[in-house]
Amino acid sequence: MKKILITSAFILVTAMAGTFAQEVEVNNKINYEIYTPAPKPSPRINGPLVYGGKPEHPFLYRIPCQGERPIQFSIKNLPAGLNLNAVTGIITGIVPSKGEYDMVIKAVNSKGKDQRKLKIISGDKLALTPPMGWNHWYAHYDRITDKMVREAADLMVSSGMADVGYQYVNIDDCWANAPKATDSLRVGPLRDEQGNILTNPYFPDMLGLTNYIHSQGLKAGIYSSPGPLTCTGFTGTFEHEEQDARQFASWGFDFLKYDWCSYGHIASGGKATDKEMSWGDKKPTLAQYQHPYRQMGAYLKTLNRDIVFNLCQYGMGEVWKWGGEVGGNSWRTGDDLGFELDRIFDVAIKNTKYRTYQKPGEWNDPDYIQIGWIGSAKGMGAPKLTKMLPSMQYAYMSLWSLIASPLIYSGDMTKLDPFTLNVLCNPEVIEVNQDVLGECGLVIQKPDSCFLMVKNLADGSKAVGLFNRGKEATDVVVDWTELEISGKYTVRDLWHQKNRGLFNHKYKVQVPAQGVVMVKMSRK
Ligand code: GLA
Repeated sequence: MKKILITSAFILVTAMAGTFAQEVEVNNKINYEIYTPAPKPSPRINGPLVYGGKPEHPFLYRIPCQGERPIQFSIKNLPAGLNLNAVTGIITGIVPSKGEYDMVIKAVNSKGKDQRKLKIISGDKLALTPPMGWNHWYAHYDRITDKMVREAADLMVSSGMADVGYQYVNIDDCWANAPKATDSLRVGPLRDEQGNILTNPYFPDMLGLTNYIHSQGLKAGIYSSPGPLTCTGFTGTFEHEEQDARQFASWGFDFLKYDWCSYGHIASGGKATDKEMSWGDKKPTLAQYQHPYRQMGAYLKTLNRDIVFNLCQYGMGEVWKWGGEVGGNSWRTGDDLGFELDRIFDVAIKNTKYRTYQKPGEWNDPDYIQIGWIGSAKGMGAPKLTKMLPSMQYAYMSLWSLIASPLIYSGDMTKLDPFTLNVLCNPEVIEVNQDVLGECGLVIQKPDSCFLMVKNLADGSKAVGLFNRGKEATDVVVDWTELEISGKYTVRDLWHQKNRGLFNHKYKVQVPAQGVVMVKMSRK
């Protein structure tokens, strides 16, 4: 392997290019070509077309909108009980009574205007489109602090991520105390005398933190595990399920990731001890796999907050078949992706096998988007610039969009660079992910390590990813017969945001090595 210095010369943008001045090992020249043009100065409203909430619960939604500030926001048919801040575009208030509320959002600035529909669906379903946000794990591991989380929230807004729909700012493991930890400040009593879970000194004021996140129109997430200890050995929720659920709600959290660690032996009937971290040697029954999630799911339902429930038990017991039934809004379908980053294609294709089990409010979760500055799952070291080829990073985001996975970025927000932001923030690609049908794409195998991923969209069009896993650029063809369609279709390249023309019978395009061309095909 040849060592080269990646400098701004390799990057086709100049702003913030110094971020890339890192020595990394690569075996070919890196072409950080930016696919997507910069957003226009006139407003462009993004975000899902539907948003779910439970009646009478607090409501919070920041209208994702690109364009030069100041922007003046207004909403036609805003339900009673909701208020819009016309300058920030943040809607607050109380979710209206059960029903569907069709609104039209308008945004105006000195350069132009835009409008977009948004339907609030008040009922018992959350996450009607895949949750989007950030999670600290792959950047900060057991180093996470309140300050870093606030900074991530600030950056979600200032980087433009919130303007394309990123919303959740999620704390992962290591916010509580541990019986032992590398940092002695994180060692302390696990609970107080009343059994309330205690934070470590790096999180002095959880409610203050969530208030801060909410003040930006964003939402806050927290993590726990059903065992006595979490995966990194911090306080778990075992035998405090209801108490912790109430605590998370009273701290103002909107999202709970619930792991499995240190629960394995308990699940199959073993005894809980704080030291016991094993997965147990007896395979749990289906009911045993389900129990901790069913229990937490039921407690979450009794709270006066909307808390999106993310199951993190690695796909055991074919969780895609029952994750929704126990109250889950999403469930991890496999191991930590940190161990399999070079296998993103396989992981995405594997997820399509469970495609029929996901639907609005219930999503398969193949783990986070790990690009930019990230650590590896093993070792919990400081983040480094990913070695993943730029073309593959576009493929990664395309795959996660086509399979309608949650879009949770897990890199270092303080080191976001123009290339990484370009991969994360193309609203036309994200729109495929957020499509209200919630369909997971279908794979059509092609010659030469190529494949198509095809996803039906609510407007009758199709999103198609043309993927090339090979080491050379190659032509890939979409044949109308494979898609069971006929007639003329307009083909729009979503990454480049360009119409390629009107095509009949087939569309052929060169796809970069280990990369993607992602198109939307609409009936003429
Ligand atoms: C597991 C999860 C990760 C992360 C860690 C925290 O490995 O899969 O996403 O939450 O635990 O310890």
